[in-house]
Amino acid sequence: MSLIKEQDYGTPARPGEATVSVEIDGTTVLVPEGTSVMRAAAECGIDIPKLCATDNLEPFGSCRLCLVDIDGRRGSPASCTTPVAEGMKVRTQTPELAELRRGVMELYISDHPLDCLTCPANGDCELQDMAGVVGLRQVRYGFDGENHLDLPTDSTNPYFDFDASKCIACSRCVRACGEVQGTFALTIEGRGFESKVAAGAGGTFMESDCVSCGACVQACPTSTLQERSVVELGMPARSVLTTCAYCGVGCSFKAELRGDEVVRMVPYKDGKANEGHSCVKGRFAFGYASHPDRQLKPMVRERITDPWREVEWEEAIGHVGSRMLDIQARHGAGAIGGISSSRCTNEEVYVVQKMVRAAFGNNNVDTCARVCHSPTGYGLKQTYGTSAGTQDFKSVDEADVILIIGANPTDAHPVFGSRIKRRLRQGAKLIVADPRKIDLVRSPHVQAEHHLPVRPGTNVALINAMSHVVVTEGLVDREFVAERCEDFAEWERFISAPEHSPEAVESITGIPAAELRAATRLYAGARNATIMYGLGVTEHSQGSTMVMGMANLAMATGNIGRNGVGVNPLRGQNNVQGSCDMGSFPHELPGYRHISDDVVRGTFETLWGRVLHPEPGLRIPNMFDAAIDGTFMGLFVQGEDIVQSDPNTKHVTAALSAMDLVVVQDLFLNETSKYAHVFLPGTSFLEKNGTFTNAERRINRVRPVMAPRTGKHEWEIVCEIAQAMGYPMKYDDSAQIMDEIAMTTPTFAGVSFTKLDQVGSVQWPCNDAAPEGTPIMHIDGFVRGRGRFMLTDYVPTQERGTRKFPLILTTGRILSQYNVGAQTRRTGNTAWHPEDLLEMHPHDAEVRGIRDGDTVALASRVGETSLRVKIAERMPVGVVYTTFHHPVTGVNVVTTENSDWATNCPEYKVTAVQVSLPHPTPTPASASASASVT
Ligand code: SF4
Ligand code: SF4
Ligand code: SF4
Ligand code: FES
Repeated sequence: MSLIKEQDYGTPARPGEATVSVEIDGTTVLVPEGTSVMRAAAECGIDIPKLCATDNLEPFGSCRLCLVDIDGRRGSPASCTTPVAEGMKVRTQTPELAELRRGVMELYISDHPLDCLTCPANGDCELQDMAGVVGLRQVRYGFDGENHLDLPTDSTNPYFDFDASKCIACSRCVRACGEVQGTFALTIEGRGFESKVAAGAGGTFMESDCVSCGACVQACPTSTLQERSVVELGMPARSVLTTCAYCGVGCSFKAELRGDEVVRMVPYKDGKANEGHSCVKGRFAFGYASHPDRQLKPMVRERITDPWREVEWEEAIGHVGSRMLDIQARHGAGAIGGISSSRCTNEEVYVVQKMVRAAFGNNNVDTCARVCHSPTGYGLKQTYGTSAGTQDFKSVDEADVILIIGANPTDAHPVFGSRIKRRLRQGAKLIVADPRKIDLVRSPHVQAEHHLPVRPGTNVALINAMSHVVVTEGLVDREFVAERCEDFAEWERFISAPEHSPEAVESITGIPAAELRAATRLYAGARNATIMYGLGVTEHSQGSTMVMGMANLAMATGNIGRNGVGVNPLRGQNNVQGSCDMGSFPHELPGYRHISDDVVRGTFETLWGRVLHPEPGLRIPNMFDAAIDGTFMGLFVQGEDIVQSDPNTKHVTAALSAMDLVVVQDLFLNETSKYAHVFLPGTSFLEKNGTFTNAERRINRVRPVMAPRTGKHEWEIVCEIAQAMGYPMKYDDSAQIMDEIAMTTPTFAGVSFTKLDQVGSVQWPCNDAAPEGTPIMHIDGFVRGRGRFMLTDYVPTQERGTRKFPLILTTGRILSQYNVGAQTRRTGNTAWHPEDLLEMHPHDAEVRGIRDGDTVALASRVGETSLRVKIAERMPVGVVYTTFHHPVTGVNVVTTENSDWATNCPEYKVTAVQVSLPHPTPTPASASASASVT
């Protein structure tokens, strides 16, 4: 296996049909209008020398290396900035061109350190390559004159260096930061000889707005911007194509290795979700996989107060099997259950739910999607008939208005965030509904038309008011509704009622009625308007209602079923979509088919050779309640730190403490394993072989770059537990598991590892009706037939501000950290976010005497923790915000048991709290002084 090198065509592809015919060095090629001569040449196999051009950036024309001759044109134009014209005749190789190019290269090399043999980029440097390509043999100018060779290196970023002495001022980094990433952290300062790359206002990379996405490092043709891992480990020698294991964007990467060691992760240009871009997590934060904290051997203990005892796999698995059977013998078949993980592959998740249903003999299986996107599943199923987003990411390139509700894409889905920013720079309009002024509200070259700072807990009032405006101002797409939808008349009556008007709900949502009306007119009047949403929608007591409310709005305005429109959940973890697809919920078999459906159940019963229980099993919160009641005594938890991530920590730990057997499978010992009796080591994404399904329903391959460091795949362990409980369950490899998924699940019928290896990725449904997959859903009709309007009464949450707890706490994540931080806290990403901070409006801080950086007590009616304050203008008055990445903060100590009425998704986004400075601890001196007074 060798290094995968994608072809660089020099300039981006232009859309449209190939209609322009040009002749290049005697070869005729047809390309779309607007294509550069350089790209046309590359498409017929002719590589023109270049330095400042690369095909993910617009041409710049600064290096003058790509000169060509064109019949009928004077001089030698730059091929990167010259578009083709019908009948054009181009020559790329003449003695005069060769001389000109050598002259250009000579100037570059005369101001460049000649340390190629010891340079980390040796063998991967375009400057070095071009010197060879143009045949440079000597440099006439010495190094005595003015040069840049003494410029310093900026090593402030934890992952890459900027060695200014090697910079050729080609501006690729500056353009990558703007055009690809959309951060605009870099500029070229000065002119002519004085030109140099500057981060921010001339400080260091870490002091600038840089978000460490690495696009500049990837774009740099020299070793000026260089990954430190390459400096330390040497140039990689081979690559394996795989998928990022962090967020629901599902970026494709080339894992580049030297031996068995990952040197760097390079985003893959043909990856359909990311098209060669990445964020700091996927590109740089992979070191946790080899972190010394990894537990690689199984461990067992009788009581949670006993020390762990490392054992062989056989003993650990036998112990789990016999203890689970023993619990069932004493407490009944329903006394045990399992939780699957949205971080694991589809294949790993599938076998967990199969183990629970077939070997445990009940439906007590749930997944961590319970606590994030379960309302998406419910809401979109009720309205559209399927539990998934409607579009592919690319669709946003056609959107004229983007409505983002309760999502923060530049932090939580950064690569898609960059795509949104690009579309906004092209002229699309943005509406943001979020209590906080998230970065997208205002950032370089991006300004939202409307920011609707909705009060936490009032989303449904907001969406109803938007629909009210659509209906009462004549903005309904009547033709679409009549042709495609049902139950409209009743919904129209409901939503037209005066209590849903923007004026009536202004005091509830906090959004001025005129602003809400203007935002709605913008959305409803667009040619194409799309809705993107996140956990700020779902993690509420009315999460499912809100999802249906958004689905109603999109249907009423005809914004469903084509490019540029839709309703799209931005999934948090890498495989939230997949873990739901794979039948992880207690009421659904794979493919979202209800467990009570005799025909569907029959399919699995025949294949699995077991009679399945027709009643839904316990959800995660029901398992906890049952444990405290003494009826649920054994739990298998895969890849989820429920003590840190689930709400109301005290309740969770009380439930775990009440169980006879808690089995944790994870990479690291975590907060939950403190309550475990068996620890089974898990595998990192670098060791897995399988698939992840991203937020756009795209099934991506996850390929192993090394064997499991624990000696076993996770699916093997699950199969062996099932066998230890007397249920035969065996696969030769994970491809065979996907074959079983395809055999039993109609939306996956056309999926196999072989197909994915051939085509890269597919979006489900992928079957005979859609062999290439389905980028856009509901094109000619909804999955359920007609789209159904649902009544969405606004019911205020029970969680209200009180005199004792007057502020509302809402939680979320930040760019550099991920979920409970188990992975990212074990990487250099802690340079950006070493602790959870409480963001607070200056007014709320001032009235409490709190200053920036103070440590405060954060208390709710269920618990209390402490953390430091960050005063932030982007917070509205009365709302505080924090992340949950660090166990030391344990912010879920304060979140409550409130949850979505339909799915039990916790109401993480609304907790009434008080924030106060801790009472000063008396010093010994003051203590004795007060004692003497007494
Ligand atoms: S790492 Fe990304 S954000 Fe930082 S300067 Fe480079 S391109 Fe810009
Ligand atoms: S740092 Fe690299 S990409 Fe940026 S201007 Fe210098 S050589 Fe070009
Ligand atoms: S955007 Fe998400 S999937 Fe892509 S590299 Fe970042 S964390 Fe990974
Ligand atoms: S590659 Fe065309 S001018 Fe640099």
